[in-house]
Amino acid sequence: KRIVVLLSGSGSNLQALIDATQSGRINGRIVAVISNKPGVRGLERARDAGIDALLLDHTQHESREAFDGALQALIDQQEPDLIVLAGFMRILTADFVRHYLGRMFNIHPSLLPKYKGLHTHQRAIEAGDSEHGCTVHFVTPELDGGPLILQAAVPIAADTSIESLQQQVQVREHDIYPLAVEWFCAERLTLEATGVTLDGIQL
Ligand code: GRF
Repeated sequence: KRIVVLLSGSGSNLQALIDATQSGRINGRIVAVISNKPGVRGLERARDAGIDALLLDHTQHESREAFDGALQALIDQQEPDLIVLAGFMRILTADFVRHYLGRMFNIHPSLLPKYKGLHTHQRAIEAGDSEHGCTVHFVTPELDGGPLILQAAVPIAADTSIESLQQQVQVREHDIYPLAVEWFCAERLTLEATGVTLDGIQL
């Protein structure tokens, strides 16, 4: 399978995916990494792995629609089977999302449907939650609202800091994102009208 990864930052999730493709665990290849921000570590990680590292700077586009149109053209040149959002900090237009329905994943640092949007770790701590975590989901036009694929939870210790909780959650992100991509590339995971199925069984 051909995988395109979109990111805006450090790319630690990209790294976990690179490792899982290189080890042969994922039956697929990351054919390109696209960033909307120049100079980010994620682009460097791609280059280090011999993967095409492409920049599409959103500040060089007049509107969200224009940027998403250019992004779609760039992605489709790669003829991908799966698009993986890995810390891609842009809200996507509904047309763009619909074009990739059933073949685009996102990872979000919360136990969705709790805490959509930003500052999830701080919000979980401030709410006094006993656990926090991360979720891999199919992307639909509703922000952080698509059908869930996999979640991992971590307990919130009484005196934890935002940074420490974020680190603990990221460790789990690096477990569940490669697993979800592994399932998809093995054609075990599909998005149906009724929801997500794994090996034909509804999750
Ligand atoms: C992750 O915490 C992910 O949940 C969120 O953005 C962050 C990306 O981190 N969507 P990295 O760039 O993969 O290190």
